[in-house]
Amino acid sequence: MKALILAGGFGTRLRPLSCTRPKMLFPLANQALLDWTLRRLADGGVDTIILAVNYMAEALVRYYGPTKFDLGIIYSREERPLGTGGPIKKAADLLTDGDPFLVLNGDIISNINYRRLVEYHKEKGGLATIALIRVPDPSRYGAVELDAEGHVLRFVEKPEKGEAPSNLINAGIYVVEKDVLDYIPDGRKVSTEKEVFPILAEEGKLYGFEAHGFWVDIGVPEAYLEANRLILESHREVTMGERDAVDESAEILEPSSIGTGVRVGANSVIGPNTSISDHVHVGQGCRIENSIIFQGTTIGDYSSVKNAIIGENATLEKWVKVESGSLIGDYVTITDGVTITQGVTICPSKTVSESILQPRQVM
Ligand code: GTP
Repeated sequence: MKALILAGGFGTRLRPLSCTRPKMLFPLANQALLDWTLRRLADGGVDTIILAVNYMAEALVRYYGPTKFDLGIIYSREERPLGTGGPIKKAADLLTDGDPFLVLNGDIISNINYRRLVEYHKEKGGLATIALIRVPDPSRYGAVELDAEGHVLRFVEKPEKGEAPSNLINAGIYVVEKDVLDYIPDGRKVSTEKEVFPILAEEGKLYGFEAHGFWVDIGVPEAYLEANRLILESHREVTMGERDAVDESAEILEPSSIGTGVRVGANSVIGPNTSISDHVHVGQGCRIENSIIFQGTTIGDYSSVKNAIIGENATLEKWVKVESGSLIGDYVTITDGVTITQGVTICPSKTVSESILQPRQVM
């Protein structure tokens, strides 16, 4: 079976972390986000991946090459962004007549049972089946109304409070028959959610399948941290590159993942729910929890990072605090004694030498 992965999005909120890679390659427990998905697809009976690429295509091609985890990888390159539907049409020649295929948003992490989803699709006999996830607040997503037989009756994109037809949302994972390509206009940007699924729903050819398990769209910092926590929890133990450079008095709390070439100074405490990429240097007396640190970053003595994401090759000098959903871009420097908190975003290569205590983006 083939799976087409939409991997060409711009990823607005997490852009400060994208100097060298698109969000599909962001680390989760020291592996690229998309690696987790590819492994599960291989286990779920998929043999070929069509990677629909646009923004930062080269980084993906270089990272995956022609095969990964026994999957063949074919790249479908867009000259300009084709949205979520256009890439499916563009891949027409790569898809096999009569065989349904999976379509997945590349920036989602989940443990949805793909085999079960495909079986359900075949049982129902529609043109497409959407995996649905039950969430407490559907307002950031596309909420779906189903009838008793599992037909999708309608979609409400980003519903206002009280306007959602249900708490079931479109998980960005579909099984699609090739005939659906007839519903996608050629050669332009198309939104599957807004232009294709509503027509299929009207014609009674679209089904929804309630999937269980974890599901996170990593589009915003809080969700990315949540995805990291879920992946670490499902692999409970601390994973370590090499222990030699971690001071004996430092503590690493489960679940956490530490890359290779990471140095940790005396009396520092790392974890729980923390991923530290390769070649990060942590000084002494630091506290890092519920956080993600990209490669090559330096965290100076007595600094603390809580519920935050720090991009690659950033420098936090001494006594720095970064907290509460804040996002520090690649190559940023934060000078001695500065506090960054309350969801502040710092764009790449900035130097910040005054504390920021209210939500703000530093461009
Ligand atoms: P935002 O800019 O934050 O909205 O993120 P996004 O660009 O990732 O958009 P969205 O979350 O709607 O995208 C859903 C999925 O489709 C993601 O996996 C994107 O990478 C992917 N995607 C979005 N636009 C395109 C596109 O033009 N081409 C391709 N190939 N994939 C796309």
